[in-house]
Amino acid sequence: MTQLSRRGALGLGAAGIAGIAAGGVGLAWTGLPWAPSTVGVGAGSVAGESLAEPGVLRSENGLLQADLVAERVRVTLAGTQAHMLAYNGSVPGATWRVRPGDRLKVRLVNRLTSPTNLHTHGLEVSPAGNSDNPFVSVAPGDSFDYQFDLPSDHPSGVFWYHPHLHGTVADQLFGGLYGALLIEDSFEVPVTRERLLIVSDTTLTPAGEPASVTPREVMMGREGSLLLVNGQLQPRLAARPGERERWRVINACTSRFLRFAVPGQQVQLLGMDSGHSPSPVGVEDLLLAPGNRADLLVTAQAGTSELRTLGHDRGSAMGPMMGGGNLSGPALLATLTVAGDSVSALSPVERRTPDRDLRTRVPNRRRMISFTMGMGGPMMMSVGFDGREFDMHRIDQSVAAGALEEWTVTNPTQMDHPFHLHVWPMQLVEVSGVAVQTPTWRDVVNVPAGGYVRLLVDFSRHPGRSVYHCHILDHEDAGMMATVEVSNS
Ligand code: C2O
Ligand code: CU
Ligand code: CU
Repeated sequence: MTQLSRRGALGLGAAGIAGIAAGGVGLAWTGLPWAPSTVGVGAGSVAGESLAEPGVLRSENGLLQADLVAERVRVTLAGTQAHMLAYNGSVPGATWRVRPGDRLKVRLVNRLTSPTNLHTHGLEVSPAGNSDNPFVSVAPGDSFDYQFDLPSDHPSGVFWYHPHLHGTVADQLFGGLYGALLIEDSFEVPVTRERLLIVSDTTLTPAGEPASVTPREVMMGREGSLLLVNGQLQPRLAARPGERERWRVINACTSRFLRFAVPGQQVQLLGMDSGHSPSPVGVEDLLLAPGNRADLLVTAQAGTSELRTLGHDRGSAMGPMMGGGNLSGPALLATLTVAGDSVSALSPVERRTPDRDLRTRVPNRRRMISFTMGMGGPMMMSVGFDGREFDMHRIDQSVAAGALEEWTVTNPTQMDHPFHLHVWPMQLVEVSGVAVQTPTWRDVVNVPAGGYVRLLVDFSRHPGRSVYHCHILDHEDAGMMATVEVSNS
């Protein structure tokens, strides 16, 4: 049960709330006739408001159907008038809730002034045709019909959607284009309420436009001056002692790392990305690289607590001389007040079957992949993998369909890079010489500066061509991306 009674998320006006209240099902609100120019009026987002959540679209009879209009809209952001990019006028876009085996049919309508496309981050679906194809480009004024078919055994978890047109991804995300995509479990986790917390950052110019960035910021990975949760600045959450909540946290920042913590509260990890803990594991803090998601249980303890990022030193593009200590520093995200009568405890969370473990099998092939940053010309840095910048026409890794591969991803640079692979699931088995004990499935894995990670990648389905890249999206746009082709031959 989400708390949608208070108000919609940034930009989702009264009409949106009415639609959600009217049923919370299917297409309840998307069909409502409201003009983007009026959206957001009266839905101001100054610091300290109650946490709002985007509208929810659910699949019905195995189908989720959505029109996704990408458009520049006027919204009130952190108390000021801003022009943001939004999906259907809402920052974040609507939350899609689906189940394994579902089909998603999404018509992306591009009303931006630049081309865009759509990526379903973390989904194990075909990378071909009109599925999760990062090579599609939808011109301004055009639309494109996507169809994503989830395998019936697709892992449950917290996923998200965002644009993925090379060269424009960081700007479009920084501008406001992102939304959550939840794949539900077949069993219910007993909680008092569920919340979605999408953390993003942006910087506004005095005119209220998302700020453009300098080449140096691109090399470092930009971090916005406004750190937002569901498009709101430092919102407030309330609960009663003993209430148990399920929080789905998404790091939708273009480059900022979060070390998420709620000091004073009991926080347990249910899962990260497509991986699950067999039973909830207590955590003090959790590193979320850009693109990572967490599924958490929070049992409310009386008092006031801050949802914070404790900060993470992610290094510097040009070494310690260039500074970098101010990157991904500690910050307040939101405030939780727990007061009132205690509630009685809920029934315990069911133990789930442990995630599969590929370590029992011998990989068909081993590869080494390295992040690289170097001088690319006078005063220009060049970023990429294995010394090469992204070229969508080049095949960097060709993989035999069905293979199990071991990938060692090394990072000889002076800053952390989050490694992300589309479509094909990765099991993290080692970080810089330290073996990972329990089966750990991630689609974004931070590779620490000077370190490496070892991954087992399952190519048993979804042949086709896709990409891996750094999820510091400024790096991705600058060329830190490469292609993989999986084929039968
Ligand atoms: Cu979230 Cu290829 O990206
Ligand atoms: Cu992705
Ligand atoms: Cu990077």
